[in-house]
Amino acid sequence: AFIPVILSGGAGTRLWPLSRQSHPKPFLTLPDGENLLQKSLRRAAAIPDVQEILTVTNRDYYFQTRDAYDAVDSREGHRQLRYLLEPVGRNTAPAIAAAAWELQESFGPDTILLVLPADHLVQDLPSFLAAVEKARELAQAGYLVTFGITPGWPETGYGYIEAGEVLMAEGSVLGHRVRRFVEKPDLARAQSFLDAGGYSWNSGMFCLRAGIFLEELANHQPALSRALGQVLAHGRRQDDYLELPQSFAQLPDISVDYAVMEPTQRAAVVAGDFGWSDIGSWSAFGGLLEADAQGNQVVGEVVLEDAHGCIVHSSERLAALLGVEDLVIIDTPDALLIARKDRDQEVKKIVAELKRRG
Ligand code: GDD
Ligand code: MG
Repeated sequence: AFIPVILSGGAGTRLWPLSRQSHPKPFLTLPDGENLLQKSLRRAAAIPDVQEILTVTNRDYYFQTRDAYDAVDSREGHRQLRYLLEPVGRNTAPAIAAAAWELQESFGPDTILLVLPADHLVQDLPSFLAAVEKARELAQAGYLVTFGITPGWPETGYGYIEAGEVLMAEGSVLGHRVRRFVEKPDLARAQSFLDAGGYSWNSGMFCLRAGIFLEELANHQPALSRALGQVLAHGRRQDDYLELPQSFAQLPDISVDYAVMEPTQRAAVVAGDFGWSDIGSWSAFGGLLEADAQGNQVVGEVVLEDAHGCIVHSSERLAALLGVEDLVIIDTPDALLIARKDRDQEVKKIVAELKRRG
């Protein structure tokens, strides 16, 4: 079996206040009216011979997720939709491990998972499908496959993949072995990777065989691996979901990038030139909007007088700007953000401060 696994349990912090605990980034509605989660489902459903799609998310988002999918499903035809519901998020390693375990139980260890984070965009669907086809072959051959994106700047919020030996099938290139995977380097290292060449960004999508992934997890994260079986045995199965027990909270909080992708020797990378973008900041979100002649990018009812280069999102009431430039202004019913555009990466500091205040 080949099963797309949509991950949507994390809360983005840099798109505050539109993305927060109760309304995380996958639920962010884009200018075309669809949210990132719906786009992820549509992408997964476009892959040939997919009978079933598994979504791993927090149990608080179950109904919200089903509602979002219903709107897509009515247009896209039906796939079996299943859910793994977490009591708390423990990051992507436990989430993917739980999915691998569950799918191995249902379909056997040779089941291939295509892990799709629901927090980014893919603009070129045919290229995406072609890359998935290559990744599927490499996963079949036993590789833990990543999708590499040509890096545009020394981003410190991504993983970096150094390509090694080329991997071919029948005379055509499928991808490369991964020589080194470095999760979230500091700026100097990120810059050195760009200068050296031969590195790509990790897109956060993975294609892997359930059994192989669980083996690698046992090798590199023995504690997580040992606890996993115990935890999953106590899940509660109902309708279309498996609700993970409270003991899931005891699993180590670690991302799959650190837990498995950095230490493993079995990683491969497929080129992912499919118009990938992680809408990781307000500037990136603005990039999806048509700019007016003064370079303003707006959503909602906004009046601009001598304003330049501003990003404005006002969903509930009228916003008016006069004589300002390069600002980000995001208005929601219970929170308002005003920031300089060149400091939008620091919005996560506000989220951290709010968390501290409780
Ligand atoms: N179900 C579930 N449970 N999903 C989760 C959890 C969790 O505990 N934590 C995160 N996710 C989901 C998020 O909603 C998101 O869709 C995806 O998993 C990735 O998590 P992020 O927290 O957004 O990771 P990141 O952006 O810091 O880093 C990853 O993505 C980068 C590209 O966007 C890494 O894979 C990097 O290497 C990569 O470059
Ligand atoms: Mg992310």
